[in-house]
Amino acid sequence: MGMTDIDPDQIGITNQPLEWRDGDMPYSPAFGDHFYCQTDGRLECGHVFLAGNGLPERWRDKDSFRIGELGFGTGLNFAETWRQWKKQRTDGQQLHFISFELYPMQRDEIDRALSHWSEIDAERTALTAAWPDQPEGTVSLKLDEQTTLSVVCGRARDGVAAARPDFDAWYLDGFAPSKNADMWSEELMRLVCEKTVASGTFATYAAAGFVRRNLGAAGFTVERRPGFAGKREMLCGVKPA
Ligand SMILES: C[S@@+](CC[C@H](N)C(=O)[O-])C[C@H]1O[C@@H](n2cnc3c(N)ncnc32)[C@H](O)[C@@H]1O
Repeated sequence: MGMTDIDPDQIGITNQPLEWRDGDMPYSPAFGDHFYCQTDGRLECGHVFLAGNGLPERWRDKDSFRIGELGFGTGLNFAETWRQWKKQRTDGQQLHFISFELYPMQRDEIDRALSHWSEIDAERTALTAAWPDQPEGTVSLKLDEQTTLSVVCGRARDGVAAARPDFDAWYLDGFAPSKNADMWSEELMRLVCEKTVASGTFATYAAAGFVRRNLGAAGFTVERRPGFAGKREMLCGVKPA
């Protein structure tokens, strides 16, 4: 069955079957896509999601900062963000990373994928130690004194609709738009914008015209930038103050 035949409302929460390429690179046969770029998903995270949202600079002088993510997957974006946060933060600052995920992975799958990067060994070890055997509902983990991770299990549209309206930044990471239009719909982009503070931002590797238009229609001022590893374009943007 092709991805366009899949209706998330009908599937319920279950594990998505994974294939492993080159030993530790997860691939989703259901969506027909990798979880991150094959060049280097950790560096891609820094270029697209952190820099695209003006991080780490925007962390300065903020008592608390809330990042939303569409698609937790392996937790790579979280682990890299947490690593950089630990290097940049000052006493008392709080980071809350809230990710929306339809098919939460099992601990051993997260471990296998993240083991690829020795740079995030500490974050992988702590995340997998805290990760529940059966992730469901909202998995909320206080991972250190200044860092909280919440993974809201279920369809992103429903989770974002129910979320607090105070996100400072968004990582839009829901597989390629051509493979998973559900994660890039105008309805979901509107919800994302509604839940964003004034001057809050988003970033994504996606550059498809319909994604750009949906984000613009949702209320973001959208900018095109050079993508990671030779990709011509990525998108980032800001909610006008
Ligand atoms: C590109 S992967 C995310 C990679 C991830 N950020 C990481 O660091 O590994 C996309 C994720 O979106 C999830 N997903 C797909 N459709 C979804 C939906 N409608 N609602 C919530 N999550 C969805 C998939 O299960 C997958 O884990």
